[in-house]
Amino acid sequence: MMAIGLLTSGGDAPGMNAAIRAVVRSAVYENKEVVGIRNGFAGIFDEDAYVMDLSSVADIIHRGGTILGTSRSEKMREDAGPAEAKKHLDAMSIEHLVVIGGDGSMRGALALSDEGQSVITIPATIDNDLGYQHGSIGFYTAIETILDAIGKIRDTSSAHKRANIVEVMGRHCGDLALYAGIAGGAESVILPEVDFDFDEVKKKMLAGKLRGKRHHIILLTEDKLSAYALARDLEEATAIETRVTILGYVQRGGIPTGTDRINASRLGSEAVNYCFGEKKSLALGLKGGKMLALDLKEALAVEKTFDRDLYHLVDKISI
Ligand code: F6P
Repeated sequence: MMAIGLLTSGGDAPGMNAAIRAVVRSAVYENKEVVGIRNGFAGIFDEDAYVMDLSSVADIIHRGGTILGTSRSEKMREDAGPAEAKKHLDAMSIEHLVVIGGDGSMRGALALSDEGQSVITIPATIDNDLGYQHGSIGFYTAIETILDAIGKIRDTSSAHKRANIVEVMGRHCGDLALYAGIAGGAESVILPEVDFDFDEVKKKMLAGKLRGKRHHIILLTEDKLSAYALARDLEEATAIETRVTILGYVQRGGIPTGTDRINASRLGSEAVNYCFGEKKSLALGLKGGKMLALDLKEALAVEKTFDRDLYHLVDKISI
């Protein structure tokens, strides 16, 4: 019997387990077999896989991480990688492969699709950096984690009359800082999409101090500039003690929010609807609550646009 292959790949994101559960449960409902591949694309080369039944996904909808394990596979990026992977998928009788992950995982899936493999991808990354959709699995949970941290950091900053630079993940995408900045009432957000203006941040800090503000939260996307050097420069320029908090991997774990679980369940179940008949090369996603199914190559080509209105909103409501 030909089976549905299922793997999670790239950086894990809270809600991946809810998506795995939805794929398995929906497949069993349709009398289809699901083969879970361990540790992302790496598990294809090792043929490290097992048949997933109803009980194999029991009690996971609320858990962070991924029960299948994940990796960033170097082998898939080698010239001969995708063709070799395709042979292993055939050996495992995998007809349609469902890939849960972000941009790199979608690229891996596309390389397999070019080798004739049927693939359906589900967007899961805390970065929300995939342009064709909005609200990839894990994004809203990471926002809640950042908000929880901001709340605590604000308490101690207010107690000491300090500023705090909070560095968040996102790599080349500022959505985590932007959305958490709005919801968390940050005074400034520093993002990859906007040129950094030191004087602007300084001006806000000084104006806040003048009004008797006891804290100042600056959200910074990782890799943009050194948080520690910035803290030193701001402290020198404003005479406001400035500390740094690098949030790091706490943003990747934790209990997925209701939104992430619902989105993951919808996307996982929808993927199974495409695991019938002819080969597919599809990217699933949600935008404005609507389900999307785009050609995978076309989805990858959609550039992520930056929401300037939201950026101005942070500016406006943080004065
Ligand atoms: O893609 C998600 C992400 O968490 C990024 O925000 C971050 O830069 C990166 O993964 C870290 O990746 P790794 O797990 O390889 O250290």
